[in-house]
Formats: sequence, C-alpha cells, structure tokens
Amino acid sequence: MVRPLQTILDAVLDGVVVVDDAGRVELLNAEACRILETSSAHAQGVPIERVAGPDHALATVTGKVLDQLRPAIADEIAIERRFSGDLIADLAVAPLPEADGAGAVLVLRDRTIQNSLRETLSEREKLTSYGHIAAGIAHEVKNPLSGIRGAAELLELRAEDDRSRRTAGLIVREVDRISALVDELMVFARGEALDPQPVNVHQVLDEVLELIAADPLARETRIERIYDPSIPELMADASRLAQVFLNLGRNALQAFDEKGGELVVRTRVSLDRRVAASDGRMLPTIVVEVRDDGPGIPPEDLQRLATPFFTTKPDGTGLGLAVARHWVTQHGGTLDVRSSVGTGTTVRVTLPLERAAPNPTPEKSPTHHDSPREREG
Ligand SMILES: Nc1ncnc2c1ncn2[C@@H]1O[C@H](COP(=O)(O)OP(=O)(O)OP(=O)(O)O)[C@@H](O)[C@H]1O
Ligand SMILES: [Mg+2]
Repeated sequence: MVRPLQTILDAVLDGVVVVDDAGRVELLNAEACRILETSSAHAQGVPIERVAGPDHALATVTGKVLDQLRPAIADEIAIERRFSGDLIADLAVAPLPEADGAGAVLVLRDRTIQNSLRETLSEREKLTSYGHIAAGIAHEVKNPLSGIRGAAELLELRAEDDRSRRTAGLIVREVDRISALVDELMVFARGEALDPQPVNVHQVLDEVLELIAADPLARETRIERIYDPSIPELMADASRLAQVFLNLGRNALQAFDEKGGELVVRTRVSLDRRVAASDGRMLPTIVVEVRDDGPGIPPEDLQRLATPFFTTKPDGTGLGLAVARHWVTQHGGTLDVRSSVGTGTTVRVTLPLERAAPNPTPEKSPTHHDSPREREG
C-alpha cells in the first residue's frame, strides 16, 4: 500500500512546506498551516512571499536556496500572525533535486513551547533561590521573635503604670506583624506542598470576586465575568488559587482612583499555549485573565515586578505578585503581566489543564475547598 504523501506529512510534528522552482507552494502539512495560519486550499499555488510577506525571512531564505541550490537555515525567525498571536520558529530550507522537478522543502519548528519552557525553568530557579534565602531568614527570625513576644507579654502583665502597659502591648502587636510577614515569606520556602483536589475554577473566582466586591475600595468598581463554560474541573489547590486571584484582584482595586474602574475576569481553554506536565506530556491550558482599566504600570516598573518586595504603595509589602506567581508556578503554570500606561493592566494566569477524574458520586460536592485565605498585613 502506498500512503498518500499528505497523510504522512500531516503526521510530522514540524511544519513542512514544499515549493516549486518559482517559489510557489505545492504542498504544506497541518503544522505548517497552523504556524502560518493558512490552509492547503488557500496556500496552494501561491508564491511563498505572499504567504509570509515579501521581506520575510521565510521568503528571502527560500529565494536564496532556489537561486544557489544550497541548503540554508535561519534560527528564531518571527512569524506575525493575525489571529493567534506571533510566534518564533526555526527554519531550514533544502533544495530539491532538479531531476525531481526542482524547488525546495521548508521545515518550520515552532519554538514557542521550548522558549516558554526555558523561561519557566529560569523563573523556577529564581524562585527556588528566593525560597532558600527566605527559609533561612524566616527560621532565624522566628525563634527570637517568640522570645521577644513572651517577654513583652510578661512585661505587660507586670507593668505598674498605664504607659508601660501600653508600650509592652505595642511590642506584642508589632512582633505579631513581623511574624505575619515572615509567614508570608515562608510561602517561598520549599516544602509547602499543594493539596490538589478537583476544582471548579469559576467557583473559586466567584468566591474571590465576592470578597473583592465587599472591599470598601471597590465601591465604584464594576466587575465583569466572562467565563468559558466549557472549562472542566481540574486538579488544583483551590485555596492557593483563591490566594492568587485575590492578590491580583486587590492590586486592580488599589490601582483605581476614587472614580473606580472596570475589573474584567475572563477564562478560556487554550490549545495554543500548551505546557509540559512533570511527566513530559503536553497539556492544554486554561487561561484566567484579570484585567483592569486602571493607570497601568510604567515599563521601568514592569521589569521589577518579579522581584519580591518591589512596591510603589506606601503600605504595600510588594509580595502580592511574587506570592501569586509562586503558587501558579507550583501548579506548573505561568503568570505574566502586560500593562501600558493609560490603558490598564492584564495579568494572565495559565494553568495546565490536568483534568480531575470524573466523579462517580455526584451527590457529594465535587469541589470542596477552604474559603480563600486572607493575607494579613
Ligand atoms: N493592576 C495593577 N495596576 C497597576 N499597578 C500594579 C498592578 N498590579 C501591580 N502593580 C504594581 O506592582 C507593584 C507590586 O505589586 P504587588 O502586589 O507585588 O505588591 P503590592 O501590591 O505593592 O503590595 P502587597 O504585598 O500588599 O500586595 C505594586 O506596588 C504596583 O506598583
Ligand atoms: Mg498587591
């Protein structure tokens, strides 16, 4: 049996495009259609420079190969796409022998996943080193703190005048504040494991948005939910996720001025942004976007957001985003912030869609989780 060439090419994981000696597309496989946002019907017979744009590396490299009949490669070429966002691909072009009708074969490898894996990896390394430092500090600080607190309590009890009592009480309260901060820092310490359960993300978001709406800062805030009803339950730690979205929602609220603003929470399933599971399987992702039309973040601040303790607020600790990113990373996901001054800020949380096993006993609530943990501060 001779299988059709198209069937074979469609099974290849790289994009493959065959052009004739004039650079017109003869054949392209499914991955090439995805990368170039086209279809066989559209692209066949069309010059490659019309598929990719005349000055595009895809066209120039192919032109050179057809001229010189020598193979060529180009690393990390940018492919602008109208619908699914731009991507980076490696390109290899080889001439086809004259005897077989001349032309060239182009192979395109999508680098997006590899690049995002690399970024995730270096982010993880960074967080791990913060974790080591934080765990060390927390440990050294916690012990003397409890000593100070105990001594201050004794002083408070034994104080003979009001002023001494108040001063001792102040020490106790301030020590508690440091303790809470240290606990928050401990989040980065390794060892705080997730407790994955079947989770309905929309339920988590609803609970968080209820808390956000009840915040006095939210008086003039309009909250919009755009939920994708096709999102199934996933395996995740609901209370940690709640913490993530609470931190993001609070940031949006705090960014608005007294006239308030619009907070949009949007969810969708994405097949385009897959992430690797711990066993190497590529999982589709769910994307939760928290968008505000607040003042936005200037570019010079945007670069510093990943650093714990970066804050522009007089009473901020600068841990909200770092903690959120930490828990998202622990879930195998990513968190990125896009912002432009004057337009607003969008924080995109991408989580691997590790599906929960279907629940055979529907009478038991499939999603049980604590109410979101509030951050003290
Ligand atoms: N939605 C947003 N709009 C504008 N600026 C933001 C937004 N989210 C974060 N930022 C900026 O990023 C900084 C860091 O945010 P992060 O949540 O980490 O700390 P924080 O809000 O300052 O303090 P806290 O620890 O109380 O959360 C903020 O101080 C603010 O300048
Ligand atoms: Mg914050």
